[in-house]
Amino acid sequence: MNLPASSNLAPSELAYVPFVSVANIMRLVHHVGIERFLRDLAGHIEADFKRWPEFDKTPRVASHVPGGVIELMPTADDTLYGFKYVNGHPKNTRTGHQTVTAFGVLSEVSTGYPVLLTEMTVLTALRTAATSALVAKYLAPTGAEIMAMIGNGAQCEFQAMAFRALCGINRLRLYDIDPTATAKAKRNLEAQGFEITTCSSAQDAVISAEVITTCTADKQYATILTDNMVGRGLHINAIGGDCPGKTELHPDILRRAGIFVEYPEQTRIEGEIQQLPEDHPVTELWQVMRGETEGRRDAAQLTLFDSVGFAIEDFSALRYVRNLIQGTNFAENLDMLADPDDPRDLFGMFERAAR
Ligand SMILES: NC(=O)c1ccc[n+]([C@@H]2O[C@H](COP(=O)([O-])OP(=O)(O)OC[C@H]3O[C@@H](n4cnc5c(N)ncnc54)[C@H](O)[C@@H]3O)[C@@H](O)[C@H]2O)c1
Repeated sequence: MNLPASSNLAPSELAYVPFVSVANIMRLVHHVGIERFLRDLAGHIEADFKRWPEFDKTPRVASHVPGGVIELMPTADDTLYGFKYVNGHPKNTRTGHQTVTAFGVLSEVSTGYPVLLTEMTVLTALRTAATSALVAKYLAPTGAEIMAMIGNGAQCEFQAMAFRALCGINRLRLYDIDPTATAKAKRNLEAQGFEITTCSSAQDAVISAEVITTCTADKQYATILTDNMVGRGLHINAIGGDCPGKTELHPDILRRAGIFVEYPEQTRIEGEIQQLPEDHPVTELWQVMRGETEGRRDAAQLTLFDSVGFAIEDFSALRYVRNLIQGTNFAENLDMLADPDDPRDLFGMFERAAR
C-alpha cells in the first residue's frame, strides 16, 4: 500500500523485507528440531538438484583478499533468484572471529524485489551438512556406522548431526590439530548422544571408519589424508578444500577415487580436483540423484564427494526458510526498499525526509 504524498515517512507495505536474524534462525531450527530440519532441508536440496537444468548457474564470484576469500553465490529459476555473501578466513578464529560468516537474499524474479533477507552463517553450516549427508546416502557403503571427523571446528557438529539424521551414523572418531577443538566437539556431541572416540592423529582417526569427513581450514595445499591411510570401499566427504590453493587430500587419493561433484565448472577451480588435469572425469551429483548416472559402482570403490558448496544449496535453504517463516514471528520486517508513492518520484520522497 502506497502512502499519500502528504503523509508521514512511515514505510509502506512494499518497503518491508522479512529479515531472519541469527537469534531467530536458531529459535526456528530448535522449534522444528535440528534433525527434522536437516532432513527437510536435504529434501529441498535433493528436489532442486533433481531439476538442475532449470537453474541459471555460474561459478561463484570470488574476491581473493589477504588471509581469505569473499564470495558471492547467485542462482535463479523461473520465479526466484537467490544469492549468498560468504567469506572464508582460516586465521579468523585466532582473533575471535568465525572462519565463515554469511547472509543471503531471495528475490522474486518477476519484480526483482527481495522477499527474504536472512543470516546464513548458521544456515550455511546446516546446508553444508545436509548436502554432505544427502550425498553420503547415495555414495557411502551400505550399513556404514563409523565416521572419522578430521577438523573439529564450527562445521563439525552440524556434519555429525546430519549424518545421524540422514544416514544413521552415531559413532564418531574425532581429530583436530588443536586438542581444544576436539574437546569442544566431544562435549557438544556426547550431549547429543553420540559415541565419541578422540584420536591422536588423522591416521588414528580413520581406523575402522567407513566414512571420512575432512573439515579443516588452512589456506594451503594441505595433506590431511595420504593414499596409504585410505582403504578400499570407503566414502570421503571432503569439505575443507574449497578455494584455489586450499585443498586437503593427496592427489594419489583422487586418482583412485570415483569423484562426485556439485558443479564441475566451479569445482575444477576450487575443489580437490584443482590438483588434477582439467579433463579428469568426474560425476555430477544431480545426474546420480536423477538416476541418470551410476553412484557407487561396487562395494570396493573409494568414493569422494569433492564438496565446495554450490549456490543451489543456498537457494534451497532460502526457499525452505521462506516457507517455514510464513505466518510466524521468526522474522521481523526491515524497512529496506524505498517505496515512493509515485514510483518515479524517488527524489520527492527523499526531499520530504528533510522537512
Ligand atoms: N564445502 C562447503 O560447502 C563448505 C561450507 C562451509 C565451510 N567449508 C570449509 O570447511 C572448513 C571448516 O570450516 P569451519 O567453519 O569448521 O572452520 P573452523 O576454523 O571453525 O575449523 C577448522 C578446524 O580445522 C582444524 N585444522 C586445521 N588444520 C588441520 C589439520 N592439518 N589437521 C586437523 N585439523 C586441522 C583447526 O584447528 C580448526 O579446529 C573450512 O575450510 C571452510 O572453508 C566448506
